[in-house]
Amino acid sequence: MRAWEIEFKSLTAGYGDFTVLRDINAVLPAGKISVILGGSGCGKSTLLRQIIGLSRPLSGSVLIGGKDLFALSPAEFRGTRRRMGVLFQDGALLGALSLARNVALPLSEHLSMSKQLLREAALRVLRMVGLEDFADFYPNQLSGGMRKRAGLARAIITEPRVLLCDEPTSGLDPITAARMDELLLSMHEHYADMTLVVVSHDLASLRAIAQHILVIKDGGTIFAGSLEALEASAHPYLRQFMRREAGA
Ligand SMILES: Nc1ncnc2c1ncn2[C@@H]1O[C@H](COP(=O)(O)OP(=O)(O)OP(=O)(O)O)[C@@H](O)[C@H]1O
Ligand SMILES: [Mg+2]
Repeated sequence: MRAWEIEFKSLTAGYGDFTVLRDINAVLPAGKISVILGGSGCGKSTLLRQIIGLSRPLSGSVLIGGKDLFALSPAEFRGTRRRMGVLFQDGALLGALSLARNVALPLSEHLSMSKQLLREAALRVLRMVGLEDFADFYPNQLSGGMRKRAGLARAIITEPRVLLCDEPTSGLDPITAARMDELLLSMHEHYADMTLVVVSHDLASLRAIAQHILVIKDGGTIFAGSLEALEASAHPYLRQFMRREAGA
């Protein structure tokens, strides 16, 4: 099995008449951990929505493993979507369901599995994120960091080819954030064919996990490349971002 590359081709995206991203041309390499960086409101979550096909590009396209989601038949579209796991910015757990049932949701939506098998699958991924003892807790009984880990467990239960994480470390203390980085790295090691895309503005996390970086500003990509190249960049905004300066 080969990992999927993600390619944006002249992608313009937004909401109705409101264009957020304009003419993006970039590749997120197959089987690598890519980090999407950029200021608040620049369109990072909007770009993730485009990758999973939650909304259509205003123009241009997104290719997942060489395929344009919106050129596929409905069955192929669903099949490809099924191979993508998402950790949403807020965890997006359902309050009325226990952790085990929340985590098993992506499986119960797609397959006809027995309750017993669903629970076993949920426990397996909860163990991977260190939450096996909390399977019968409800989301409001957990800390923010635990909810993020539960969100990650839910995103990986289908063993996706593409794992998207929207700010997995935001709101976490530095130690819990570092633990989340380690979890992402271990996921990446465990699933050799997984392409990871992480949205973040956590510099420590960036330095811990990034193998490829895309920086978005003013609707376009102002940087694509390695961490070393980013750290060495003379671009004023990038220098400001990397040094965490308020600027003028
Ligand atoms: N559903 C929506 N309808 C209309 N506009 C939206 C919608 N979602 C986001 N936007 C707008 O699109 C722009 C980009 O938002 P987006 O959520 O992609 O930013 P972001 O980079 O993820 O920000 P943050 O770092 O704060 O999460 C913002 O101006 C926002 O107001
Ligand atoms: Mg966002």
